[in-house]
Amino acid sequence: MKTRITEMFGIEHPIIQGGMHYVGFAEMAAAVSNAGGMGTITGLTLGTPEKLADEIARCKDMTDKPFAVNLTFLPSLTPPDYPGLVAAIIKGGVKVVETAGRNPQQVLPALKDAGIKVIHKCTSVRHSLKAQEIGCDAVSVDGFECGGHPGEDDIPNMILLPRAADELEIPFVASGGMADARSLVASLSMGADGMNMGTRFIATKEAPVHDNVKAAIVAASELDTRLVMRPLRNTERVMTNEAVEELLRIEKEKGADLKFEDIIEKVAGVYPKIMMEGAMDEGAWSCGMVAGLIDDIPTCKELIDRIMSEADALINERLKAMAA
Ligand SMILES: Cc1cc2nc3c(=O)[nH]c(=O)nc-3n(C[C@H](O)[C@H](O)[C@H](O)COP(=O)(O)O)c2cc1C
Repeated sequence: MKTRITEMFGIEHPIIQGGMHYVGFAEMAAAVSNAGGMGTITGLTLGTPEKLADEIARCKDMTDKPFAVNLTFLPSLTPPDYPGLVAAIIKGGVKVVETAGRNPQQVLPALKDAGIKVIHKCTSVRHSLKAQEIGCDAVSVDGFECGGHPGEDDIPNMILLPRAADELEIPFVASGGMADARSLVASLSMGADGMNMGTRFIATKEAPVHDNVKAAIVAASELDTRLVMRPLRNTERVMTNEAVEELLRIEKEKGADLKFEDIIEKVAGVYPKIMMEGAMDEGAWSCGMVAGLIDDIPTCKELIDRIMSEADALINERLKAMAA
């Protein structure tokens, strides 16, 4: 399939694996890229420029296809060494950067000078237009369904994607709630040039996480995610578990007086225990409503091949027959 996204990134299929904390290691990124999509290493999980440089080198040992690095800009009292991380990305010869969180303007000049394409993840049309205005090459439009941070507008992709298509000139991929060929064909119909998946890629053989995480996604239905940290305007969609239900109880009890410190132990520093050790009740971990559509653990190649062949059948058989 040829779209503005496959052309821009030099990939075979218009399918991207979004950056994921403690999931987006070299094994994950290389598996997606080797399957013809575009995998992403998550910069902040590595944390330091040296470790990120090593991870980029490891990924290059595993694939000669294009892959991306995610740089997430979070509000922080002790911000990561962003200039150092950008230098590691440039030195490592990475061709694509996925930015997320705050406005990525501070890193754009260095990345653009190095010829790196930048795709910024946005949860609204206004942020997408801002990304276009400051010179991003593409946007990943993340609807309310998404795992992770859906923003505060709560607009699902059935509305957000066509709205983005009406306003944007640069290409965008649909993100949030994407799982299969139906997601891809619907996204293309609504004006996207591809799709970005997070949760679906965790439930794959190559995802370098504990089997308990994959099993939890397969077992979950579309009713099993919760929104946490909404009172702090830092909303995150996570898989429900004991820690999350307790967190929600604290949020309710504190009401408008809620402070980050009240819930910190349920959200900060829990990813290594959950993703690496499989301690599933340790705290809140991002997961999309799309868990309800996931019931197997294929390889990345099996998953992407299946999506592309079923998309072909949807377009050339089901839709064509209806249009005839
Ligand atoms: C476990 C997990 C961790 C994530 N971590 C990050 C992250 O560190 N930075 C980021 O930009 N997005 C992160 N995301 C969001 C994904 O990149 C992607 O936008 C999102 O998962 C899309 O929604 P979906 O899960 O419905 O496919 C994360 C998502 C998940 C499920």
